[in-house]
Amino acid sequence: MPKLPNIVAPSILSADFSKLGQEVKEVLSAGADWIHFDVMDNHFVPNLTVGPMVCKSLRDADIDCPIDVHLMVEPVDDLIKMFADSGATSITFHPEASKNIEQSIQLIQDLGCKPGLVLNPDVSLKVLEPFLQELYMVLLMSVFPGFGGQDFIPETISKISSLRKIIDEMQKDIRLEVDGGIKESNIFDVSSAGADTFVAGSAIFNKSSYVDAIQSLKNNFN
Ligand code: DX5
Ligand code: ZN
Repeated sequence: MPKLPNIVAPSILSADFSKLGQEVKEVLSAGADWIHFDVMDNHFVPNLTVGPMVCKSLRDADIDCPIDVHLMVEPVDDLIKMFADSGATSITFHPEASKNIEQSIQLIQDLGCKPGLVLNPDVSLKVLEPFLQELYMVLLMSVFPGFGGQDFIPETISKISSLRKIIDEMQKDIRLEVDGGIKESNIFDVSSAGADTFVAGSAIFNKSSYVDAIQSLKNNFN
């Protein structure tokens, strides 16, 4: 089955929040495909970020690209509803944060968004098995979530290859997204292992030229 087109999704976690709308517009005009919207609740993860109102204000500011909402919150269902109402395109959540994974996936679908599950580095691919048929995307964390700017955990590469095999055998177009520590020097390996959707925070927003940063990520795809 042919691989899906590659996507670069800058994580707003590393953006300058005092001018978020402008930052998002700049990365989009610099070649970003999606925006990755990290939601942290100071409970499921230690950090606290932004909620549905901020997503809605980006939509109100005419940002019309896909917004990929990554929920690092527990529980998930109320926020799924709020983000669906606030313009989210895809919504991913961590299975351990939902009381009923099947229902949360169904809820995302019923509300017109695309569902995905996120696995932390220490969570086995086996957890996905009962749900894979229903998913638009699987997000593999290559750091423990909570903060931007961490180092990519190298063991993620073999996990990506294993998931790529599972997805290919299913003959279903499920996006394989990777999040955490992605940069110019490792995106070739991540892409070669079979990922097609690449989140990058510090590798884009901490650079002076977003065009150069995004281009050098894209230049290094396999
Ligand atoms: C980590 C977040 C990531 C993170 C990526 O908890 O889910 O999206 O911000 O940032 P970098 O690319 O700097 O690791
Ligand atoms: Zn994320």
